[in-house]
Amino acid sequence: MSDVDLADRVAGPRAFRLPGGASVLVRPIRPRDGDLVQAYVRRLTPDSRRNRFLGALSELSPRALARLVQMDRGGALVLLAFAGADRNATLIAEAMSVIASEGGRGEIALSVADAWQRRGLGTLLMQAVECHARRVGVRHLFGDVLHANTAMKGLARKAGFSIRSPFTDARVIEIVKDLSLTPPAPPCDAQWMAMPSVAARPAAPAAPPLLTTLCSGRTSLTPG
Ligand SMILES: CC(C)(COP(=O)(O)OP(=O)(O)OC[C@H]1O[C@@H](n2cnc3c(N)ncnc32)[C@H](O)[C@@H]1OP(=O)(O)O)[C@@H](O)C(=O)NCCC(=O)NCCS
Repeated sequence: MSDVDLADRVAGPRAFRLPGGASVLVRPIRPRDGDLVQAYVRRLTPDSRRNRFLGALSELSPRALARLVQMDRGGALVLLAFAGADRNATLIAEAMSVIASEGGRGEIALSVADAWQRRGLGTLLMQAVECHARRVGVRHLFGDVLHANTAMKGLARKAGFSIRSPFTDARVIEIVKDLSLTPPAPPCDAQWMAMPSVAARPAAPAAPPLLTTLCSGRTSLTPG
């Protein structure tokens, strides 16, 4: 069985309804999603790309893209959200969590297509990556966010993160949540805790974390 077949088998899409009534499909990323993700990144506005990747870029490098679609090891999870069905489905959001090298810490990053922002999708995906992080034993979930990124700071606060200002980079704040202090939100039990991910592939050896950045990218990958 190929990787793609296996990913299809263990990680089919799940449907969710956003508060406004729109339905979205969410599934883990697959190795063949590179073109889809690249097109999505290009469609984001420059502001959204800067906020997501903490710097100006127009697209992901081939290396970064290849790493992202293969990010299925060591407890990492990358989720994609789609609007529409089948051939007309459009990628409208992505979210990831990566386990940091020191263990017990997981880094998160996400983005929602501009036309879909402020409709609850970021909240849904944050819940999903948080549930996954709990499942793989993460205690502290963190992310680096541009100081000026009001939307992400708002989303993080709403999701129970606290906000800290590390001294290393004045442009960036750190969002942190100690998962041991709060029980999982209801969707964890109902859907996300049971969500199979390609991260659970039996044959995949743990990859060493890449000490560079994606959203913050201390643990994930650089856009360049
Ligand atoms: C940050 C981001 C992921 C939020 O996603 P979203 O789907 O719009 O978030 P939600 O609709 O679930 O909003 C949840 C809460 O976040 C806050 N929020 C979201 N967008 C906001 C905005 N533009 N201004 C202020 N607060 C905002 C609000 O508190 C909101 O709750 P409310 O609508 O009940 O007031 C989205 O704006 C985005 O993709 N931005 C570009 C990429 C990025 O910044 N990524 C984060 C760095 S890793």
